Amino acid sequence: MLISPAQFASKILAFYEQHGRKDLPWQKNPTAYRVWVSEIMLQQTQVKTVIPYYQKFMKRFPSLKSLATSNIDEVLHHWQGLGYYSRARNLHKSAQMVSNEFKGRFPDNLEQMQSLPGIGRSTAGAVLSLAKKKPTPILDGNVKRVLARVFLVDGWYGQSAVARQLWELTEKYTPATDTAQFNQAMMDLGASFCRRSKPQCQQCPLQTDCLANLQNKTMEYPHKKPAKTIPTRQTTLLLNLNDKGAIQLQKNPPSGIWGGLWTLPSLEGQIQAKDLTSNQLAQSELVDEFRHTFTHFHLEIKVIIPLPDTKNKQNLLFQSKVEENQQIEWHNISQLEKLAFPTPVRKFLFRYFQID
Ligand code: ADE
Ligand code: SF4
Repeated sequence: MLISPAQFASKILAFYEQHGRKDLPWQKNPTAYRVWVSEIMLQQTQVKTVIPYYQKFMKRFPSLKSLATSNIDEVLHHWQGLGYYSRARNLHKSAQMVSNEFKGRFPDNLEQMQSLPGIGRSTAGAVLSLAKKKPTPILDGNVKRVLARVFLVDGWYGQSAVARQLWELTEKYTPATDTAQFNQAMMDLGASFCRRSKPQCQQCPLQTDCLANLQNKTMEYPHKKPAKTIPTRQTTLLLNLNDKGAIQLQKNPPSGIWGGLWTLPSLEGQIQAKDLTSNQLAQSELVDEFRHTFTHFHLEIKVIIPLPDTKNKQNLLFQSKVEENQQIEWHNISQLEKLAFPTPVRKFLFRYFQID
C-alpha cells in the first residue's frame, strides 16, 4: 500500500519541526522579492555558499525597485563568484518587468510569475508558497530525488514522461495547508538524510514507506541521464626536434578544437599524405599514445618522431603544408613552460622532456 498524502504530509511536517531549517536569512521577513532572490541564487548553488552573497546583495538591493533601477554591471558585480551569470541578468530584467508591467508588485499567480525570465514552475511554486502562503508544489533537484526514491520513479528527469510523473506526485502529495513548511522540509530532507550518496534512511521519516529503502535500491534512484555514446577519432602528432634543441609547434586557429593553443603538428592536418613516404612512416618511432575525451568525441592520440627519409635525405618536417590561419614555429624546449597547451599535450610534453 502506497503511503497516503495525509500521512506523507504529517511525517514531513513532523520532520520539519525537528530538523527543518528555520533561520535562513530569506526566511526572515519572507517577502516575495527576498524569497525570489534567494531561490534564484539557490538554483545552482548550495545554501552555505549562497548565504554571504545573499546578505551583501540584499544590503545593496534591498527592494525590487532598487534592483530594477540599478545598472546591470553593478548587479553582475554582486554576482561575481556565484557563477551562471544569466541568473543575474534574468533577475535584473525580471525586476524591470515587474516594475513596468506589474506596477512594481510581484505577481501572485503561477502563470504571470512564470512569464518572467529565469522563473520556471518550481521556482514560481517556491516563491508563492514560501512568501505568499499559496499551496503551490515545487520540484527542485532535492524534491525530485526524494520522490523518485520513495515511489521508485523509473527514468531520467530529462524525459518529459518522467518529469510529468514527478510533477503529478508532487501535486498529489503537497498539502493545501502548511505548504511553506512542507516545501521547505522536502528540500531540507533532500539536502540532509536523502542526499545523493549514502542516504541516511534509518533516520528518515519515510523509511517505512519509501520503496527504494524497502527494496534496498536507494543508490539506483533517481536514474541518471544515460551516458551518451560518442565517437572515437584518431590523430597522430609529430614530434619534430632539431639539433639546436628546438621543437616544432603549431598554433591552432582561434576557433575550433584547442583554439588559440599551441600543439604538435598533426599528420592529418599539416603533412600531405603524398609527402610521407611509406619508408618514413615505417621508420617513424612511436613515442606515446594517450586518449582525451571532449564533449562530443574521444580522441586517441599517437605521437611519433618522423625520421628523415634516408633516400632523399629530406626531413619530413620541411614538407609541412601549413594551412591558412595556422602558424608553425620552432620553439626552444626551455621555453615550453611559457606557452599555452591543451592539457593532454602539455602533460605529454612535460613528461617527455621531464619538465615539472
Ligand atoms: N534550495 C532551493 N530553495 C531552497 C530553500 N528555500 N531552502 C533550502 N534550500 C533551497
Ligand atoms: Fe530517501 Fe532513504 Fe528516506 Fe527513502 S528512506 S526518502 S531513500 S532517506
